[in-house]
Amino acid sequence: MGVIAAGQQPQDVLAQELAAEMAAVNVLIRERMASRHAPRIPEVTAHLVEAGGKRLRPMLTLAAARICNYQGPFHVHLAATVEFIHTATLLHDDVVDESAQRRGRPTANLLWDNKSSVLVGDYLFSRSFQLMVETGNLRVLDILANASATIAEGEVLQLTAAQDLATDEAVYLQVVRGKTAALFAAACEVGGVIAGAAVPVTRALHDYGDALGIAFQIADDLLDYGGSSALIGKNTGDDFRERKVTLPVIKAVARATPEERAFWVRVIEKGDQRAGDLERAVALMGRHGAMAAARDEALVWAERARAALTSVPAHELRAVLADLADYVVARIN
Ligand code: IPE
Ligand code: IPE
Ligand code: MG
Ligand code: MG
Repeated sequence: MGVIAAGQQPQDVLAQELAAEMAAVNVLIRERMASRHAPRIPEVTAHLVEAGGKRLRPMLTLAAARICNYQGPFHVHLAATVEFIHTATLLHDDVVDESAQRRGRPTANLLWDNKSSVLVGDYLFSRSFQLMVETGNLRVLDILANASATIAEGEVLQLTAAQDLATDEAVYLQVVRGKTAALFAAACEVGGVIAGAAVPVTRALHDYGDALGIAFQIADDLLDYGGSSALIGKNTGDDFRERKVTLPVIKAVARATPEERAFWVRVIEKGDQRAGDLERAVALMGRHGAMAAARDEALVWAERARAALTSVPAHELRAVLADLADYVVARIN
């Protein structure tokens, strides 16, 4: 008997199977996001944390630990660590992207200010490091410290790649691997490492998270052009306004006529955006099959994620992780 009932989404199955441990993770998050000395900290963290979020990354850590038969308590610390790193990057990312909506709520930078978001983000980063130190495991410290540096590198690389139509798919891949996949990969890997799993297994967990994260970010970039703001809890069109050269843009530009190319130069490179331009961009992406091509690429990464799992011990939750890979792409539809 599998754990998946008909019609259930894989992340709901994960949430259900991991409910007791996720409750412990949430207790730890609430405990550590507070501060007795600076009231602004719990205000900002509560605003973002109480809004929920999918909690995908901590569930990946818990699932990996369970699959590797971990019996100790520290997977809970690691799951909270991973969610803290994620939350810190969201606070910083919304400042950098000048975003107004996150998790269906106004962003912290909008409700308070950029200064609060940057500083509370720093606080959460530091809290995440305290949490991981409590595991006493140097390998997980190494993995999560590297992931944090890689996320920041990805965000900075994206900064210099934005507004530049010469950005190609290789640079795009480097950006998403850094800013998004690095944390997915680390979240999975540390679950195996804390359980003392063999290197081929922890490597496979890393590779699964890496491919899953890339598929996830490609889907997220598609949703920024075609998604519903109500469903994703974020404003669509942010990437266009920020002149980011994401995969659907790269594919549309590669197939552009000279006149269309002039349009892309104006809106992305020159930043001269007018009413109706976002709609025109979406239309061009549709006309040239850029959205479909980007979606196909996401499916290739989902398949790679699935394939990586063959080196992970057989387990009910392994099958759920495999389905999750397809699901992160299916959410585009
Ligand atoms: C948002 O991640 C940042 C990206 C990598 C696109 P999620 O979509 O997992 O955010 P929450 O935690 O569910 O809000
Ligand atoms: C997400 O970047 C990656 C990080 C938060 C580090 P995006 O800017 O693409 O994600 P959203 O759309 O704001 O969630
Ligand atoms: Mg953003
Ligand atoms: Mg961003």
